[in-house]
Amino acid sequence: MYREPELPPDVPPPGVAVARALMTRRAVRAFLPTPVPRGTVESILMLAARAPSGTNAQPWKVTVCTGRVRDALAAELTAAHFGPPSLQSEEYAYYPRQWRDPYLARRRKLGWDLYGLLGIAKGDREASARQHARNFDFFGAPVGLFFTLDRDLEQGSWLDCGMFIQSVMIAARAYDLHTCPQAAFTPFHRIVRRHLAIPDSEIMLCGMALGHVDADALVNQLNTERESVGVFTRFLGD
Ligand SMILES: Cc1cc2nc3c(=O)[nH]c(=O)nc-3n(C[C@H](O)[C@H](O)[C@H](O)COP(=O)(O)O)c2cc1C
Repeated sequence: MYREPELPPDVPPPGVAVARALMTRRAVRAFLPTPVPRGTVESILMLAARAPSGTNAQPWKVTVCTGRVRDALAAELTAAHFGPPSLQSEEYAYYPRQWRDPYLARRRKLGWDLYGLLGIAKGDREASARQHARNFDFFGAPVGLFFTLDRDLEQGSWLDCGMFIQSVMIAARAYDLHTCPQAAFTPFHRIVRRHLAIPDSEIMLCGMALGHVDADALVNQLNTERESVGVFTRFLGD
């Protein structure tokens, strides 16, 4: 049963909309096929582009795919996922090469919770691969987004893009839409590039599914937890 996280009790009334947008954003992994108008996607991107960036450089680039372009890409990616490993090539390491605690424990918990919810037993590689494959169909969402960045930019621009990407997810909530950020595409960037004419001069940071949540889907019952503020924060001074 999905439980919407509670807002902090001290949120003043004018702040409730912002707090709710933050608290109700979650990675949705089953969407309805209901289309999202292009105008809505443009509004979401316009809001997200208010994200800050060092010297206002605005380094983010977005490719939006829908309809036949989305379907053709999804079909080839799904086939490639079940195909030979030679079809995969990582451009950058999103995840640590060597996992360690506390990150490993958190990662494991997510895996157990997600796969446990879906009844996928530990070690059932076929069922895990089938669930992972849902990524490549954007979990059924009608809109796929890809975030890219000019390769010659520095780490600061990655930070800027991260803020932009989060802003897209929060802005989507203003339209009662949901998202799932997706690093799953990154090993298949060559296929994505070919379908969407993304030049080699841009690095593909991640993809994202955007659409209406399928509230009845079991996978969307997942609750994720967060560490309390005291675990990751030090307050110094009075
Ligand atoms: C950049 C990024 C890439 C992600 N890639 C994937 C992905 O490929 N597939 C997926 O199902 N979830 C993906 N996630 C979602 C995370 O698993 C999720 O954000 C995390 O478990 C916390 O859950 P919540 O977003 O529902 O609060 C990604 C998240 C981020 C920020």
